[in-house]
Amino acid sequence: MSKQRAGLFIAFEGGDGAGKSTQAARLAAALEARGHTVLRTREPGGTPIGEKLRSLVLDHGHGHIDAHTEALIFAASRAAHAGQVIRPALERGDIVLTDRYIDSSVAYQGAGRGLGEDAVKSLNEWATSGLQPHLTVLLDVDPAVGRQRRKAGAAAEDRLESEADDFHSRIRDAFLELAGRRPESYLVLPAHDSVADLSARILDRVCSLLASLHGVPAGAIPGNPDGDPL
Ligand code: TYD
Repeated sequence: MSKQRAGLFIAFEGGDGAGKSTQAARLAAALEARGHTVLRTREPGGTPIGEKLRSLVLDHGHGHIDAHTEALIFAASRAAHAGQVIRPALERGDIVLTDRYIDSSVAYQGAGRGLGEDAVKSLNEWATSGLQPHLTVLLDVDPAVGRQRRKAGAAAEDRLESEADDFHSRIRDAFLELAGRRPESYLVLPAHDSVADLSARILDRVCSLLASLHGVPAGAIPGNPDGDPL
């Protein structure tokens, strides 16, 4: 996977209502202001077929979808996303920010639906040919707070969001367990901290990561003078 080193791959994870999209947008803007090329994307989705799979799996009205089918649809969407969007962007040297990745399947389908971590991980490692983020930003949200935040927003709850609180508690625990096992690859932040404070901490960690991966001084690369694909 040597080509993956050309770019930087960051996943945002967390329960529903954690504020991942807000933080991904703010990080993208901050990195672009420093001269980086950033690709913002999301799962399920990110490709034309992935967006179709997204509505299949999230919209109400397709009748009962059993847990195995659900896991396979998320994995199918992810296979297209990893192969057609994320890997090519990393090979170009871009910074890829994805709203959700494999950990979401491990948490929602593995722990939430009870399919188990090992089965869901191996399905997804196969689907993505082992493509892993350099860093996962986990916004840890209390399920009750997440639900309140979703209710305050305009959109109706999708199939997964409308699951009971104990489903969302299992998901929260699963995310924290994944992060606890490999702390060097995670930044875990309490989602209730202020938006500005969270953004500053995320940017700080990403700048350090860029510095350690590419030898770029943390903070800025005015004009990226060497044309170095960061
Ligand atoms: P998301 O796009 O974060 O929701 P929205 O932007 O509509 O707020 O995610 C959609 C839902 O899909 C969310 O409840 C989590 C769920 N999900 C899984 O169950 N497994 C997965 O692998 C992924 C990527 C998402």
